[in-house]
Amino acid sequence: MASRLGTQLGEWQAGGGVAQALSDRIRMLLLDGRITAGERLPSERALAAELGRSRATVARAYELLEAAGYAERVHGSGTRAALPAQRVQRPAAPGGDVIDLTIASVGSAPGLHAATVRALDRLAGLLGSPGYSLDGLPELRARIAARYAARGLPTDPEQIVVTSGAMHALSIVLAALGERGRTAVVEQPTFPHAMEALRRTGHRLLPTPVTPEGWDSAHLVETIRAQRPALAYLIADFHNPTGATMPELERARVAAVARAAGTTLVVDETCAELDIDRAWTPRPFAAHGPAVLIGSMAKIAWGGLRIGWIRASREQVERMLAVRPSIDLGTPLLEQCIAVELHDDMAALLAHTSRRLRIGRAAVADGLATHLPEVAMPAVPGGLCAWVDLGGPWSTSLSLAARDRGLLLPPGPRFSASGVLDRYARIPITWEPDVTAAALARLGDAWRALRSGERSRHERLDAAAAV
Ligand SMILES: Cc1ncc(COP(=O)(O)O)c(C=O)c1O
Repeated sequence: MASRLGTQLGEWQAGGGVAQALSDRIRMLLLDGRITAGERLPSERALAAELGRSRATVARAYELLEAAGYAERVHGSGTRAALPAQRVQRPAAPGGDVIDLTIASVGSAPGLHAATVRALDRLAGLLGSPGYSLDGLPELRARIAARYAARGLPTDPEQIVVTSGAMHALSIVLAALGERGRTAVVEQPTFPHAMEALRRTGHRLLPTPVTPEGWDSAHLVETIRAQRPALAYLIADFHNPTGATMPELERARVAAVARAAGTTLVVDETCAELDIDRAWTPRPFAAHGPAVLIGSMAKIAWGGLRIGWIRASREQVERMLAVRPSIDLGTPLLEQCIAVELHDDMAALLAHTSRRLRIGRAAVADGLATHLPEVAMPAVPGGLCAWVDLGGPWSTSLSLAARDRGLLLPPGPRFSASGVLDRYARIPITWEPDVTAAALARLGDAWRALRSGERSRHERLDAAAAV
């Protein structure tokens, strides 16, 4: 029977020594969280048989892993994956600089400093209060509610809970509404930390496909109808990482099916306003049927401003406020005051973000055309990244080769609930053009090394087949 590791390895041989390639691949799976420290690896004999390699090759790969601290041999109980004592994740780049494309976030908004100064006066007016803010400052909740109304979704401030970012919002939602031992639908690909949060709260994940062209609506609807999951976590606008937006009719259909199946829709709107040139603006999901919405200031103001929110029914809000004190006792008041000030000119904030993303998108398109001409730039009407199709299952190997060149790039399977998608890579459009240019030059170098290794392997195989 195929082992979990054997399945996850996929197309692991990317040229160079076989044992080295195998050990590199296992190391990547571990660094990526796709196998966990402490997890038992298949026996040398079993893995060798599964991969059609000699036992000595697998033994050598395990030795290499062990020497680097990524495996431990325990007498009598085989080999287990491990993480080196000090985190040695960061690669050594020539000159010591590392470009980290695992992060997709624009820098701080220009008005942030001035808003922070103004927020100090607002905070002064609150200093006489106890300072705990479980549901959020009324003036901030009112502004968030007004923005929903402006987007076509009438909202009462009582339906808003202010949180410390979208991930924190998701934790509160899952603590209040999730059901350990039940299933949750997630898109494939999706935002990896959301999958981790769902798994941590005991959900089994049911992936449903999405591409830059959109959702497989029939699959999504059928999965909800047949499996009746407790939750479905969706990113309906400028989906991370594909950039797709779900049409309104599809939202209505999904909402109706979810309501009938007793599935709570949790729709992450962190990217919802990152528009560059999408030709249409749908109303928020909850305008089409019951859905809990999660939002954030992270991508429109700054990742360092830990402000997010939840929009839900009053009854759901009550449940969330009941559970929240076991998680935290409220979002910092200074951050909330800054968010209130930023709401004064949200249009300027969004326009600025849009300009930055447009420039970032052009830089990625240029970099791909220059350094990876075989890889097409997908349509990116907005959002944080380009989800590029490499044309073959090379993403993990490319990430490894990029790492050796001082570039951190998460491989496609990082965005998959089932460890697939090795033909895709997520390239953020959020970095300054000079950073993107340098990153894509390194990626191009890794790509050429990988492809020439691939070619020489095929030549070797062809030559062997010819004799
Ligand atoms: C879809 C999605 N949700 C949530 C987050 C995290 O948001 P926050 O920083 O507000 O926790 C991100 C960040 O990239 C994201 O893309």
